[in-house]
Amino acid sequence: MTHPAAALYAEHVNPAFVRLLGTFGYGRVFVRARGVELWDTEERRYIDFLAGFGAASLGHNPPRLIARLNEALVQDLCHVMHIGPQALAGELGEALAQRLPALPMALLSLSGGEAVEAAIKVARAATGRPAIVSCEGGFHGSGLANLSVMGHRRWRKPFEPLLPECHRVPFGDLEALEVVLKKHRVAAFLLESIQGEAGVVMAPDNYLREAQDLCRRYGALFILDEVQTGLGRTGRLFAFQHFNGIDPDIVVLGKTLGGALVPVAATLTRRDLQEKAYGTAKTFDLHGSTYAGYALGCVVALEVLRAIKDEGLVEASEQKGRRLREGLQRRIGTHPLVREVRGRGLLVGIELGDTGSGWLQRIAPGVVNAVSREVLGQWLALRLLEAGYVCQPASQAWNVLKLTPPFTMDEATIDAFVEAVGVIFDEYRDLGPLIADVSRRIGSQYMNGWDFR
Ligand SMILES: Cc1ncc(COP(=O)(O)O)c(C=O)c1O
Repeated sequence: MTHPAAALYAEHVNPAFVRLLGTFGYGRVFVRARGVELWDTEERRYIDFLAGFGAASLGHNPPRLIARLNEALVQDLCHVMHIGPQALAGELGEALAQRLPALPMALLSLSGGEAVEAAIKVARAATGRPAIVSCEGGFHGSGLANLSVMGHRRWRKPFEPLLPECHRVPFGDLEALEVVLKKHRVAAFLLESIQGEAGVVMAPDNYLREAQDLCRRYGALFILDEVQTGLGRTGRLFAFQHFNGIDPDIVVLGKTLGGALVPVAATLTRRDLQEKAYGTAKTFDLHGSTYAGYALGCVVALEVLRAIKDEGLVEASEQKGRRLREGLQRRIGTHPLVREVRGRGLLVGIELGDTGSGWLQRIAPGVVNAVSREVLGQWLALRLLEAGYVCQPASQAWNVLKLTPPFTMDEATIDAFVEAVGVIFDEYRDLGPLIADVSRRIGSQYMNGWDFR
């Protein structure tokens, strides 16, 4: 029997999603969360290695954020205020500027996607140029401007035509970037420091630095989308700080900033860019929305920034990320279906696919890759779910299991997870048992009418 909450969701929100969950038997309705733990309607407990796609970096409902919110809720704050400056928005802008002094201006919004759109707008308005360059594989949100710079065709196709003058180049390809910069009037090059949804894809050494130099040479702005990687996820406050000499013109933040409690995002820019785009009586209101910079968003974001600093969470992400990667490397690094364990800090990817070992790999590497891409990542995530761990393949690369746990997760839990992954991977050293298990499961789900359970 489909759970009533899932039935309602299917009836009124997204039926295809519920059907898809039912295909494999993924169905759970999660109703409670605290720290690194989640519980479903059956009171089963899970450890969260997905953490709201990397938003719950401080864990779920962290006590200090809840306490600060409770305090704010009874202070009769002016939550939505447009007749005067929102005092807390100024404080949040200052706190962000302290962390990135070269970009002292903050355009506040409610989602990573909106904050990316704000970056595109400010770049066009400040440079007076139309073109935006982004990367294949890049993920930047789901609004129409976002899709115009999105690196995945499946996401763009149904909504075309999108913004004109948006060009895509392969991530890591400096020559292709220069061709576009030479040919078009480019306002900005927009990219992720590490591509998260494409499967934790790392920039080649020197790529960011040289891409930034090219942008400067051709008068284009250099925008880094740190919605997923920012605020400690990769073991630095900003992922671009892993590289020397990176000095972006605009940085986009979201996810972690709202503590997985309230929607809040920010587009940090140079002062002169903000001034050029919005610096007059005729332009000051050309960007904004009713809830942008609202009080509760600022209250939580300020507390998130304080907690990251006071609790040493960036360092925690670096150390725990290293432990997780090294543990996985030791336990499954030589598994015949594991191509690579990679990442920075607590943004970790396990890439699955052909490794050239085993008879099937030798005679049919294409089959191994296809199964890895379409089935293996989802199946392993499902098996982990049944073992009490929540994680998912990267949304645009199902052959990469992506791990983005809270920075507060303890080391014993990380070690236990590594062992749980190892035990499941041990069952599937070649694809025969995997295909048998998946077929059996799909058969039983079919017999149950693809029931969400
Ligand atoms: C790099 C990046 N940019 C932008 C977004 C969009 O953020 P939101 O889902 O808050 O709109 C995401 C979401 O996953 C992301 O990973």
